[in-house]
Amino acid sequence: MSAFDLVLRNGLIVTGSDQFSADIGVSNGIIVAIGTGLPHGTKEVDCAGRWIMPGGVDSHVHLDQPAPGASMCDDFFTGTASAAAGGTTTVVCFAWQEKGQSLKEVRDGYLARAQAGARVDFAFHLAITDPTDRIVEEELPALIAAGDRSVKVFMTYDGVRLQDGEILRVLSQAARGGALVCVHAEHHEMIQWLTAKLVEAGLTAPKYHALAKPMAAEREAVNRVVALAEAGGGHIQIFHVSGAESAEEVARAQGRGRPVTAETCPHYLVLTAGDLDRPGFEGAKFVFGPPARTAEDQEALWRHIRAGVIDVISSDHSPFRFDDPAGKKVAGDAAPFHKIPNGIPGLAARLPVTFTEGVAKGRIDASAFVRLVATNPAKRFGLYPRKGTIAIGSDADLVVFDPNKRVKITNALMHHASDYTPFEGYECLGYPVATYLRGQLVFDGTRVTGAPGQGRHLPRGPYLAPAPSALLPGG
Ligand code: URP
Ligand code: ZN
Ligand code: ZN
Repeated sequence: MSAFDLVLRNGLIVTGSDQFSADIGVSNGIIVAIGTGLPHGTKEVDCAGRWIMPGGVDSHVHLDQPAPGASMCDDFFTGTASAAAGGTTTVVCFAWQEKGQSLKEVRDGYLARAQAGARVDFAFHLAITDPTDRIVEEELPALIAAGDRSVKVFMTYDGVRLQDGEILRVLSQAARGGALVCVHAEHHEMIQWLTAKLVEAGLTAPKYHALAKPMAAEREAVNRVVALAEAGGGHIQIFHVSGAESAEEVARAQGRGRPVTAETCPHYLVLTAGDLDRPGFEGAKFVFGPPARTAEDQEALWRHIRAGVIDVISSDHSPFRFDDPAGKKVAGDAAPFHKIPNGIPGLAARLPVTFTEGVAKGRIDASAFVRLVATNPAKRFGLYPRKGTIAIGSDADLVVFDPNKRVKITNALMHHASDYTPFEGYECLGYPVATYLRGQLVFDGTRVTGAPGQGRHLPRGPYLAPAPSALLPGG
């Protein structure tokens, strides 16, 4: 009888803190041994010349979600195929409430669909768009206590955004329950006013999306929600920080000791507002919010990443098809920018693009890369050390990564349901060559081998210290 179900041999193990050569022994989906000369396993894999890193944790993924008039094209089945193909073994998705809906019923529906379709493990952010008394005071605390320990609020988008007073109530309730609040921070009225002015002037091509959503709108909203969280209490994470000025707001909040963290995404590191100006309607492929900014913003983001101000790189996978009346062309193939659905697919590109821009280009070291794409999101969202590291007792979510493999991104390699990738033609140096979920191969370097229903829900125990209001006596 073999000592292990699986042994990965001779790889360079790269965690968020260490790099060393050793074998990994896996039994019953758990890492049970790390050492040299381990006894034989039922399955043996030689990883010489490769890295073994913890499976990626993508803490910002939209799957099976409604979008006004349009439809996102990835459900849990196709979206988690893309995750596995990109070296991601845990996705934190959204249980997305629409007006009038019970958050509990919404979450139960997402849970059932994810349990049927997902090929990697998953958890949920509770996206609150209708914060009635019953939702905020009854359903939210019950769902947090049951393990869905993160909440998403929007400061913009009609039908979705919350008013400041509503955000305060959610912040305060989340703080009491020990849930992190993730924030889409953009100034709604400023965007509406600029959009109206641009449309009035006939400036409606996709490139004007960037002018309608300027950095001032993002910077102001980050500043405001940091202040709201100081009053309401609680930990917040600013989602999709797009450039220098909003990152500076986060850095200032952290300098004052506020519990504020931030993520950015690969598209902010490699795309610019110039991509919206591609010929014809091609720019629609790059419509997402906040928009991509400038090359200087990209370098500023890396400075803030190196300083730890931004400590997570997620995909914000929000997939629409391009050539589809339910996708980017929902309002026609010459639609004005404000009628183009916001969002792009990015799950499978996250690790290779971050590695190429970060490690291959000398901006960060190997362990910093692992922290950004796996360890830190696992910690921020209460999944560590089960996820996000290679340690005895952790789930055997393992990625065999070839740091020397050159791959030019094509849509077929993304294994998603979209008909395009915004990273088409991007030259990666470094690519995942195998992905294991709890010791089972879910991507073999070419094919997604994970089965629907293989992914498990990850309820999260309490993990955040209370962060009381700084502005009320006694918090
Ligand atoms: O453009 C984006 N990011 N769409 C997805 C929804 C969101 O804002 O996270
Ligand atoms: Zn957002
Ligand atoms: Zn998003």
